[in-house]
Amino acid sequence: MESIKCKNLSKTYHGGKKALKKITFSFKGNGIISIIGKNGAGKTTLIRILSTELMPTSGSAYINDIDIIKTPELIREKIAIVPQEARPIHWLSPKQNIISYLMYRGYGFFESMEKAKTALKKVSLNSNLNKINRVLSGGTKRKVLVATVLSSGAKIIFLDEPTTGLDPISRNELWDVLNKLKKDYLIILTTHYLEEAERLADKVGIIDNGKLLAFDSIDGLRKKIKYNYSLKVQGDFPKLKSYHGKVIKGIDNNYQILTNEEGSYILSKIFIKKGIRFSTNQISLEDIFYYMVKKPITEERVEEDEW
Ligand SMILES: Nc1ncnc2c1ncn2[C@@H]1O[C@H](COP(=O)(O)OP(=O)(O)O)[C@@H](O)[C@H]1O
Ligand SMILES: [Mg+2]
Repeated sequence: MESIKCKNLSKTYHGGKKALKKITFSFKGNGIISIIGKNGAGKTTLIRILSTELMPTSGSAYINDIDIIKTPELIREKIAIVPQEARPIHWLSPKQNIISYLMYRGYGFFESMEKAKTALKKVSLNSNLNKINRVLSGGTKRKVLVATVLSSGAKIIFLDEPTTGLDPISRNELWDVLNKLKKDYLIILTTHYLEEAERLADKVGIIDNGKLLAFDSIDGLRKKIKYNYSLKVQGDFPKLKSYHGKVIKGIDNNYQILTNEEGSYILSKIFIKKGIRFSTNQISLEDIFYYMVKKPITEERVEEDEW
């Protein structure tokens, strides 16, 4: 069974930037781990260390119980990575792209050709596509890259922001592909699209400023949050004396209140009475992310009687 484990992984770059601070998590089995965080949070640094491209400053990491810091050469056949902003080779066709990658990894031509066909099918691409990569759409190019790493036979796949910059339809297509793959692979995927993690991830790691703030399933994350209901209030925030929960100022002067089920009920009644437009839901991953990463503008608790 595939497994990944790291303990107190830290990375300080030359010049003193502390990109990772004591990252600790573990996961066993197939599925998708999604690492989410803002630009500069440390996602790529983490992926580069786990894929044995970069040495950490301190800490340990194991993949399938192999110490990948001390003996990276023992794991390299089992892992494959699509780096951030990778593109397939422009002047090759998708099949040629995969064949050249496999021959580079040491396979013979005919074996590579067979593997290329299988891999392209896995991402729902026609293995006889006669176009060169340069003329393919952004989404198809990413599929070619995913097919390329799958062809290697590696069971642990790192994808660093595979859908950044894609239009919503191409992104959805790639999500379908990844959803199908997750039963047979352990995929570690970074993204700053929270919807992507919500759709795909078995476990989500929230990373901010080099720290792993949480690592859990989405339901698990929800349970950790004291306030797991969200009310969105349109327009100016009503002048309430105090709020039952946390208030976050959104774009366009809209406000969001994170509260518990009871608070949601109480506030809903008040808003209806005052004629204030609002919507209420269980919190999404986006809410959880903002709750953990952004500072709320105020926090107060009041007893129900005060309403
Ligand atoms: N090679 C490097 N040398 C120095 N600083 C770096 C290097 N690579 C990344 N950083 C810095 O480390 C932090 C984390 O970067 P990165 O891991 O690329 O974040 P993310 O992938 O989440 O955007 C950022 O502040 C970035 O500027
Ligand atoms: Mg990055």
